Order: sequence, then structure tokens, then C-alpha cells
Amino acid sequence: MRLEVSNLKAYYFTGKGVVKAVDDVTFYTNESVGIAGESGSGKSTLALSILRMLQPPGKVVDGKIMLDGIDILAMDEHEFNTKIRWKSIAMVFQAAMNVLDPVYRIGEQMEELLRYHGYVEGNAYELMSSAVRQVGLDEDVLKRYPHELSGGMKQRVVIAMALLMKPSLLIADEPTTALDVLVQAQIINLLKRLKREEGLMIMLITHDLSIIAEVVDRIGIMYAGQMVEFGSIDHVYREPKHPYTQALLQSIPRLRGEKRLTYIKGSPIDLLNIPRGCRFYARCPYAMDKCKEEDPPALDGGYKDGYVRCWLYSKH
Ligand SMILES: Nc1ncnc2c1ncn2[C@@H]1O[C@H](COP(=O)(O)OP(=O)(O)O)[C@@H](O)[C@H]1O
Ligand code: SF4
Ligand SMILES: [Mg+2]
Repeated sequence: MRLEVSNLKAYYFTGKGVVKAVDDVTFYTNESVGIAGESGSGKSTLALSILRMLQPPGKVVDGKIMLDGIDILAMDEHEFNTKIRWKSIAMVFQAAMNVLDPVYRIGEQMEELLRYHGYVEGNAYELMSSAVRQVGLDEDVLKRYPHELSGGMKQRVVIAMALLMKPSLLIADEPTTALDVLVQAQIINLLKRLKREEGLMIMLITHDLSIIAEVVDRIGIMYAGQMVEFGSIDHVYREPKHPYTQALLQSIPRLRGEKRLTYIKGSPIDLLNIPRGCRFYARCPYAMDKCKEEDPPALDGGYKDGYVRCWLYSKH
């Protein structure tokens, strides 16, 4: 599967003004991809835009999203819902396990989802049991209520729900947040296995760079609504180009439980009031005069299929 996002803009039109949450994001991938960046950088907005589930006051205002060469933003809603949503692209929403309905059994909630998408009663059980087995759970879980499950099991259940209609692309938005370290590792292993054994393409969204490298082949770094660096995981981890990526990588604890080595000083800009110039200017140790005046375009960072939005890599 090929996913191509070009010049995507998704804004929130609030009483206080326009929040430019995703502001001209471009990337292309045919492999699993990670989207990383601090909280508030636009990761969830990007994911919701791809699934066309951004709710008002949010709206995609510009750009293209192509899936295997088809412009999915131009499709009518009915066609998108019958062919793409949950069937080609499915998503585990941020904090999804907390919104499992406490009064229904897991199986009932899955059946509801299948029914909504027009699946006949006949093979519902088969689809549900295959999905729960895929995530390493026993079919027995279908008879349970959410409160009877541990956090890790609930997270597996929401992943199973996303897998019900056998999508090719699974977007997982912060799937390990709020889980303890051991369970986090289990969920990451599950995603790795789904990718390796089932050929699932995964878009893993996280603010935690330490969990991403094992699962994905490429990575996009988001900062204040922009993708400031994109490239293969090897390149970006070994030789991060953007000063923000460098700072993020330095802030990963080297050992589990170890305190972060450095913090990124300062705070992100206000997306309601985006200053001229580079968005990382106020926090960047390499800032130059030019950076304050002009927003850097996507520049060649010296590695294939990637780019970096930073004036340090300008040839002029
Ligand atoms: N419903 C909303 N209304 C207004 N602003 C929003 C809404 N949802 C998100 N935002 C803003 O959009 C920006 C990006 O948010 P989000 O995509 O959730 O970032 P991330 O997932 O990286 O934490 C943030 O500044 C956030 O406050
Ligand atoms: S463009 Fe300038 S301010 Fe922005 S990240 Fe690069 S060096 Fe820093
Ligand atoms: Mg988010």
C-alpha cells in the first residue's frame, strides 16, 4: 500500500481564531511509518484527517491524500465509508481503551461495529474470533465486560476491533500511553508481529521516540503543525538533521527508568499565532538571522526519500 500526503492543511476554526494544527504536511511511504513529536504538534489531527474523521471545528482545508494512487479526500463520503474506512485504513484512537462501553460485552461491541459496516450476522463470530486471536487473546474475551480486563488486554481489544475488517493500514495513535513499561513492550511486540507476519502497514503515532524504531521503517517528525524531518528510520536515528529531531533523540533515556538526559528548553509556539520564520527559532541552538524571517522549505537532507525543513541545509 502506498500512502501519499501532499501539502495537507487541517485547521480548527475556534472562537479564538484558526488553530493551524496541520500546516502543509507532505510525505510519502509504502512501508510502516512513525509520526513523532511533542504533544500538540498535530499528530492526531493528521491521523484523523487520513481517516476523514476530523470533527468540527476541525476541517481539512487543503492538500491531497492518495492511497494507492486514489485521491481519498475527493471520494464521496458513502464510497469512502464502504471501501476505505476500517476496510483499508483502520485506526486505534488515542485513549481508545478508555472509551470501551462498560455496559456491553466485548463481543457485543465488536458485533455492533460489524453490523454498522454491513457485515452479515453469519460470519461475524468468525471475524471476531480471528481478530482477537490475531492480537494474542483467547476467544473467551468476547464474553467479558471491559472492567474484567487489564489495561494491556483492553488495548489488545481495541487493536482487534481495528483489525476486524482486515485493513491494510493500521494507524495506532499513542497505543502505549498510560500502560506500564512491561505492557508497553508487549503491545510494541504485537505491532511488530502484525507487521512482520500479517504484512500490515502500521502508522505508529507517539510522543515517545524510544518505542518507535523497532516497529517502523520510516519516520516523520512533527513540530508545531509541520513535518520538520522525514526519512528512513536508520537515517533519522543515526544522523538526525533537524535540530529539533536531534534534541528529541537526546532526550530519550538510555536505559529504562533512567532520567531524561536533556530537556528541550522553551515551549512550542502558539498555533493560533504562528510567527514568521522557522517555528523552532526561539528554541533552536543554531538559529540564524534568516531563520527569524523566513520559514524554511523542505530541503534535501542528503539521504534518499527524505527531507529536512531547516535553513542549515540550504545550499544558498
Ligand atoms: N477540537 C479542537 N479544537 C481546537 N483545537 C484543537 C482541537 N483538537 C486539537 N486542537 C489543537 O490542535 C493542535 C494539534 O493537536 P493534536 O493533533 O491533538 O496534537 P498531538 O496529537 O500531536 O498531541 C493543538 O494545538 C491542539 O490544542
Ligand atoms: S531553520 Fe534555523 S531556527 Fe529553524 S531549526 Fe534550522 S537552524 Fe534552527
Ligand atoms: Mg494526539
